[in-house]
Amino acid sequence: MYTAPQIARLKSKKKIVMLTAYDYLMASYLEKAGVDIILVGDSLGMVFLGYKDTLPVTVDDVIYHLKAVKRGAKDTMIVADMPFMSYQESVKSAVKNAGKIMKNSGASAVKLEGGLEIYRQIKAIVDIGVPVMGHIGLQPQSVNKYGGYPVQGVNDEDKIRLVSEAKAIEKAGAFALVVEKVLSKTAAMITKAVGIPVIGIGSGPYCDGQVLVTPDLLGAFEDFTPKFVKKYDNAAIRSVKALHKFTSDVRNKKFPGKKYYY
Ligand code: KIV
Repeated sequence: MYTAPQIARLKSKKKIVMLTAYDYLMASYLEKAGVDIILVGDSLGMVFLGYKDTLPVTVDDVIYHLKAVKRGAKDTMIVADMPFMSYQESVKSAVKNAGKIMKNSGASAVKLEGGLEIYRQIKAIVDIGVPVMGHIGLQPQSVNKYGGYPVQGVNDEDKIRLVSEAKAIEKAGAFALVVEKVLSKTAAMITKAVGIPVIGIGSGPYCDGQVLVTPDLLGAFEDFTPKFVKKYDNAAIRSVKALHKFTSDVRNKKFPGKKYYY
């Protein structure tokens, strides 16, 4: 199982693989598949709880899912997303909520969305001994500010801002950085500019690693699929087909056949 310092040292040595899990079963699959980091992302609000965005997710939701994930993946590094309004308000609330998550869950690090405006929060959490993963570029917790999920780092001003945010997050003590939906050239600039690993999502091939939302890549979540998701399976279609077959077998008295009762 990787520690945060070990992940930090992987930069330029090995591509880092991070995927999300929210429950025992998926966590056990990810561990068997050998991913480097499991993220209990606040994407759980959408793909697990059915909210329209990540904003309603609470610290208690994250802890509940973390505990299940830890039971399924005892030997994989787990990073916990800090949900909306668990760290933005003040350094004090950030430290308190990071501590609460770490105390109760089996996570070995937390992830926070934001740039310069949360520099103090990141530093304070690192100072109490909790590794922090940053997250810049598209920040889904700010969906209402953007009015959607637009590509980031397109114009020169944004490119410069993102590089300086990445540097600031590294200076604050983060061990890694997620860069979401950023133009690949800009993501490459960010990756070059910092000494910590940059884990991209929708940000092209030049990052130090990749992360996706697992139900997206499995084709299990069908509400919407961003362009950057490659579907490695069509789990939703296959599952509904299997469930439909079961339903019709019961109705047609084909299940349970002799093999399936005592
Ligand atoms: O919540 C999440 O799953 C994330 C990833 C998309 C990086 O933050």
